[in-house]
Amino acid sequence: MVVAVVNDTFWGDCGKGWAVSRAAPNAYTIVRFNGGCNAGHSVPYKGGELNYHQVPSALHLGKNCIMGNGIVFNPPQFFNELEELKKVEPEISTDTLYLSDSAHVTMPYHVKPYIEALEELLDAVRTGKNIGTTGKGIGPTYSDKANRRYAVRVGDLLDQDALADKVSRIVPVKQGFVDFYKGLIGSEMERTGYKPANEAEEKTNREILESPPIDADYIIEKFAGYGKQLRDTVEITDTSKMVNDHIDEGRNVLLEAAQGGGLDVDYCNDFPNCTSSNTITGAACIGAGISPDKIEKRIGVVKAYCSRVGSGAFPTEIFGGIAETIQDNGKEYGRATGRKRRVGWLDGKVLRDGSRLNGYNGLAVIGLNALADLPELKVCTDYDSDGTPIYYDMDPWPRIDSGEVEKKGLEGLPLQAIRYLDTIAKFGNTEIIMIDYDFGKDLILNPIF
Ligand code: IMP
Repeated sequence: MVVAVVNDTFWGDCGKGWAVSRAAPNAYTIVRFNGGCNAGHSVPYKGGELNYHQVPSALHLGKNCIMGNGIVFNPPQFFNELEELKKVEPEISTDTLYLSDSAHVTMPYHVKPYIEALEELLDAVRTGKNIGTTGKGIGPTYSDKANRRYAVRVGDLLDQDALADKVSRIVPVKQGFVDFYKGLIGSEMERTGYKPANEAEEKTNREILESPPIDADYIIEKFAGYGKQLRDTVEITDTSKMVNDHIDEGRNVLLEAAQGGGLDVDYCNDFPNCTSSNTITGAACIGAGISPDKIEKRIGVVKAYCSRVGSGAFPTEIFGGIAETIQDNGKEYGRATGRKRRVGWLDGKVLRDGSRLNGYNGLAVIGLNALADLPELKVCTDYDSDGTPIYYDMDPWPRIDSGEVEKKGLEGLPLQAIRYLDTIAKFGNTEIIMIDYDFGKDLILNPIF
């Protein structure tokens, strides 16, 4: 039996979907332990892609897939996700899909045109920038979880009367916030002379500022309906007990993180430009409901360069021709938002600090070919006292030939790429266990299970 957690060493787009898809066939159970539909794992499948958001990315394999306590659950997005998955794999079954009754639910007042949209707009009006969230209501849902008073959990959706009682007490409070934010945004717009950047932004702002009152009756009916639909679709249960039972039976369990360690709400490099949950390996214990001594393997997925979506410090970010080449070669756009990702050189400091925090004992490296044939190649070894990256020049490699790798294994990689991998292993202070050098063409050196 092995219990392994897989997360991302940077800001969330390193390719956990690949690492999970290589480990999942030998897992009995896969658990998503944090985040919500802000995240996306894409798994190459039948020449296309399965795009997972809240569902653990192995449902198509018929594995036990658990959405644990630590996630935030968005019912309409969940049903939409299932529909999209079925378009790619009509045979996908939810018979092995489980949802924690204690996971917190994202409600309509959390998302556009209400709380999160108003908060992002207020920041933009006041300072010209905001967090640049995925707009999925993740922050407001986790805020309500921490506050407790206004939280709705999955279990609440199953009892219409109790839900009605809760929602009718919550909505007036939320409406008060909405009205307050609208007034404040209006006065801040006058004070700062804020102008929307373009017509689309103007239209969005109007939708947010002219939103109708939150309709409690509509929400009660809709979400009680989701409760019924969920009962027919997934098993809503005490998922912590289930995972622990599987561990006790000696099964392989894979714990799948959303986002990357760099977006952790406690340990990010640039608070508040992070997500609202804990994304590091330690969070797997809380989100899945197991004790720390159970986790044997802690695998960090490292992209051969860095990428980031949304605002936030990115010390090694690059612009211009080389950045565009990497964006094109690496297909760098967000799966959940479609936004183009910012890219930069590999950040050895983030990897070193992250490895300490996450206790990695294996790294999965992805994206080597996106750097092939570049005119120059740098890695950041540390920052100076002002926080400016210190770079080391590395030798670029020619495009990796999959025929050579299939024939010779690791030896089939260009020498320069092998040196680059050694550098990554040194930063991470552990061994590299798998390498994806070109979108699914990979080398498994030491399998997770
Ligand atoms: P939120 O999680 O939607 O609140 O977004 C907060 C920040 O985290 C924003 O900068 C997002 O772009 C970023 N973020 C959230 N989820 C992901 C993800 O799955 N991949 C990459 N960035 C993400």
